[in-house]
Amino acid sequence: MRLDCIFAVLGCAASFALVGCKATPPGKVEAAVVQWTKHTLTVRGTHDKNPIQSTADKIDAGKQAFGFYCVVCHGRDGQNTGVPFAGNMSPPIPSLASAEVQRYSDGQLKWIIENGLSPSGMPASKGILSDDDMWTIVVYLRHLPPAGSLGEPRAYSGEEYEK
Ligand code: HEC
Repeated sequence: MRLDCIFAVLGCAASFALVGCKATPPGKVEAAVVQWTKHTLTVRGTHDKNPIQSTADKIDAGKQAFGFYCVVCHGRDGQNTGVPFAGNMSPPIPSLASAEVQRYSDGQLKWIIENGLSPSGMPASKGILSDDDMWTIVVYLRHLPPAGSLGEPRAYSGEEYEK
């Protein structure tokens, strides 16, 4: 195919894609594109293996490490229980038990924890948590308790300054 021909085809495809976007509800299409981009391009570490075994001890250790600062945004159960602003962030804070999140490999979850997700509110833990802590948290993410079973984070009890 001649070069100008290829450009003509590409141009057509591009304008078709634009029309296609307008014709369908933008929210859904946008969300699907964002999900796809995150899962296949943004988030690295797909094949990194978790060196931590999923024993009862390690699940508990992961829960403790999650308790340091993940809970203020994700809730003690990783499912936003008691987090008042979870739905008001952009993008909203997802349930870590959801199929979308569980679809990531262990290596990808570790990558997300280490690097955060810019430009959303999901912070990077590099230099704050050790590699072992991050991998151990991944073990906990694979064994989250039933939603609501752990109550809400203490930070939201309103007792911060009470003696
Ligand atoms: C300041 C609030 C905040 C804190 C603290 C926080 N997160 Fe998040 N987290 C978010 C937000 C917002 C998102 C949604 C990001 C997105 O979809 O781009 C998110 C998303 C995630 C995801 C799913 C990513 C996806 O693509 O759906 C995982 C896994 C995660 N966080 C784990 C953790 C862990 C583990 C910790 C603690 C080390 C933590 N987060 C601390 C706000 C936070």
